[in-house]
Amino acid sequence: MVSEPVRAGSDWLALREPADAAARSVELVEELLSFLPEGRLVVHDLGCGTGSMARWLAPRLAGPQHWVLHDRDAALLHRVGLTPPPVSSDGVEVTVETRRGDITRLEPVGLAGASLVTASALLDMMTAEELGRFVDVCAQAVCPVLVTLSVVGRVQLTPTDPFDRVVMNAFNAHQGRDISGGRLLGSDAARAAVAGFTARGLDVTVRPSPWRLAPKLSELMAEWFTGWLGAATEQRPDLREAAVPYARRRLDEAADGSLSVTVHHEDLLAVPRSPSRRSPAAVWTAANRTSSTSAYASPPADTSTSSASAPTTRGRSPGPPGLQQTSQAELLPPTGAERRRTHLAAITATLLWSVKPCWATFE
Ligand SMILES: C[S@@+](CC[C@H](N)C(=O)[O-])C[C@H]1O[C@@H](n2cnc3c(N)ncnc32)[C@H](O)[C@@H]1O
Repeated sequence: MVSEPVRAGSDWLALREPADAAARSVELVEELLSFLPEGRLVVHDLGCGTGSMARWLAPRLAGPQHWVLHDRDAALLHRVGLTPPPVSSDGVEVTVETRRGDITRLEPVGLAGASLVTASALLDMMTAEELGRFVDVCAQAVCPVLVTLSVVGRVQLTPTDPFDRVVMNAFNAHQGRDISGGRLLGSDAARAAVAGFTARGLDVTVRPSPWRLAPKLSELMAEWFTGWLGAATEQRPDLREAAVPYARRRLDEAADGSLSVTVHHEDLLAVPRSPSRRSPAAVWTAANRTSSTSAYASPPADTSTSSASAPTTRGRSPGPPGLQQTSQAELLPPTGAERRRTHLAAITATLLWSVKPCWATFE
C-alpha cells in the first residue's frame, strides 16, 4: 500500500496535549538541566505542531529562552501564536519564532547556535532515510537532543478483549506502511533513533512515557480508539466486519468509565560525549545569523516548503484572525451519549465507506 503522510489536525493535537504533558518524562528533563549552558537558551523544536512541547518544557527551564519552532504545516504554525509558551521557571519571558519547512531537509546551519533540540510525537512518521538525516543534523548541532513520545507499538486496554491484539498488530503494520518516499518506521523509529545517536557518538538515555487514559480522559480515549481501529482496518480491510461490534463494545466501555487504556511511548535524551559549552553570546549571535540564511535544503519536486519566519512573542501574540461567532449551544460540551454517538458514526463511516477520519495521527 502506498499513501501520503497524514496531517496532524489542530483539534487532535489540542485534545492530546494534557495527556502528552502528563506522559513526558520529567526525570529526563532533570538530567537534561546539567547539560544546558548558562544564560540565554536557544531551543529548536522540530515538528512542533501548535507548540505543545514549548508550552510543556519552557516553564521547566530557567532563565531567558528563545524557541524556534519548525513545522511544515503553516496552519499549525499559525496556532503557535494563539497559545504561546508561558514564562520560564524563574519568571523570565520566553520568546518564540516559527519556521516553516521540511525538517528532514534541515541543513546544519538551521540549528547553528542551538542550546537544545527537541521533538515530540514525530519519529514514527519518518522513513529510515529521513530519520538518518534527522539524527545527523541533530548530532551536528553538538547540544542535547530531547525526543519525547515516540510510539513503541504496545497498547494495553483493560478489561482485555481477544480482538485487541489483532487490532494492535494491524495498527502497527499501518504505522510501518509504505508511502511515496519509502517505508515509515512506525514503532521501530524509537529504537532506530537510539542506534543512530549512539553511532554518532552521543550518550542516550531512554525513559518510558506512557499515556494513561483513564475514564476522566474518555473523550481522548474515544478519539484515540477510533483512530487506532480506523488505521488498523485501513491496513486490514478483512477486519472490518468484526471491528463494528468490537467498536461498539469498547466505546460503550469508554463512555461508562469502565475502560482504561495505556499507550506506551518512550522519551530519549541524547547528549554529546564531550559537550562543547559555548558562551551565551556566541549562542545568540549564531542564532541571529541563521535567520537570514536558508536553513533547509532544496525540497524535492513534489514538496512545498519554505523557510518563512513568522516571529511571535509572548507579549505580542497576533490573536486569532477572523474569529467566528459561536452560539451558546456550540459552547456547551457534548454529553457522553452524544460523544459516543459521534464516535460510533465516525468509526462506522471509516469502516464501511472508507471515509478518512478528521484526526490524522493515531499514536
Ligand atoms: C503528531 S504531531 C506532533 C506535534 C507536536 N510535536 C506535539 O507534540 O504536539 C507531528 C508534527 O510533526 C510535523 N511533521 C511531520 N513530519 C514533518 C517534516 N518532515 N517536516 C516538518 N514537520 C513535520 C507535522 O506537521 C506535525 O505537526
